[in-house]
Amino acid sequence: MSQEQWKSKIGFIFAAAGSAIGLGAIWKFPYVAGTGGGGAFLLIFLLFTLFLGAPLLIGEFLIGRKTKGDAITTYQRIAPNSSWGIVGIIGVVTCFILLSFYSVVGGWIIIYLFEALTGGLTGLSQDQYGMLFGEIIANPLPTLLAQLTFVLLTIIVVAKGVQKGIENASKIMMPALFILFLLIVIRSLSLDGASEGVKFLFVPDFTKLTSETILIALGQAFFTLSLGASAMVTYASYLPKTQNLPRSALSIVLMNIVIAILAGLAIFPGVFSFGLEPNAGPVLIFAVLPAVFSQMGFGMLFFIAFLILFLFAALTSAFSMIEIIVAAMTKKDKSKRKKYTWTIGILIFIVGIPSCLSYGVMSDVLVFDKTIFDLFDYAVSNVLMPLGALLISIFIPLKLSKSELFEEIRLGSHSGKMFFNVWYYLLKYFTPVAIIIVFMDALGLIDKIFG
Ligand code: PFF
Repeated sequence: MSQEQWKSKIGFIFAAAGSAIGLGAIWKFPYVAGTGGGGAFLLIFLLFTLFLGAPLLIGEFLIGRKTKGDAITTYQRIAPNSSWGIVGIIGVVTCFILLSFYSVVGGWIIIYLFEALTGGLTGLSQDQYGMLFGEIIANPLPTLLAQLTFVLLTIIVVAKGVQKGIENASKIMMPALFILFLLIVIRSLSLDGASEGVKFLFVPDFTKLTSETILIALGQAFFTLSLGASAMVTYASYLPKTQNLPRSALSIVLMNIVIAILAGLAIFPGVFSFGLEPNAGPVLIFAVLPAVFSQMGFGMLFFIAFLILFLFAALTSAFSMIEIIVAAMTKKDKSKRKKYTWTIGILIFIVGIPSCLSYGVMSDVLVFDKTIFDLFDYAVSNVLMPLGALLISIFIPLKLSKSELFEEIRLGSHSGKMFFNVWYYLLKYFTPVAIIIVFMDALGLIDKIFG
């Protein structure tokens, strides 16, 4: 068995940040915040990210680096002859379903890029952008082709192996994305009526919070940090013992928060300035951003640059999803990597077809009142990832002693006892209790018991 390694410390941070920062922060955050009422949602999301997400991220990093295992063997190595491997299996299943619809949205970016490059997006009015996007995603053939292209790009890079494929590109593209976002935000904030959008994002209106939105904020916190699916366990397994894990985790959390807020600031001023509804759902960013860009000098050029970086951010997340599955199935045996990556990638594409068609010919096919796309998204974000996160937060303090964990966290970092204790108790008590309460609340059980 051969062991892959990240090339440099900063390379790992970019790769893990690349897994974290993707459609979750850029595409999903604005629309779930838009539907969830804006400021109050942001606040809850931030609390979950800092007090549940960050400790769990450190936890996933620790066990990944400690065992150097994949999503499944990590749990088996720490708890031999137990059924804890199921946590890794949940992660593998999560990533499989996730990539099946994630690639649909990745495909939308590719189509928009194609349209922008061929002049199809020039000179339209705001309404026309919204309508055009609706028409584009209802068309089965181009969307399926674009989805396939996204999956193929993912397969090709991951089949090559971790180092070469993922690390180099992330180092350039992530900072570029950040800078471009700043430019968009500056333009967006100078639109007429932009302050309404800023207010919507930052001033909490707690009357908009429901049990369902709290669950969605929880799911969003895990989704954007790639938690609960053992993705970060797998990525950390390629790390040397000299990496400062708490610092890496905190910088990833911070970058992710910044990008999500920038995405919100790029979109909501436009939403209000153009008189749109913030709760437009998954199409929000695609309907609003072209109009913001069209108001900028060299707008189309910037939009094309943005789409390329957006696509890159989505791809680096997609790499991690397929990597988790491939690593778990090949047990990191390099000789099988290529074959498995191709097989799994193609299967994912096939499973993703109904999600792709959910915006067109299969829009009437509803399961539990949701389209297949929405159902998969809901299952992954609001059930599987929080469930995985719950199990991991129980597993770590149960199967590893406090001193073992302290020793591991100290490798590469100078974390003091106090930091360690805060992390340990947040993970051991706060995380599982908070997840269980949010789950019960969403199921209406809290009202039944206390109401
Ligand atoms: N964090 C990614 C995003 O926000 O787009 C999504 C993700 C990647 C979730 C990898 C889970 C995962 F294992």
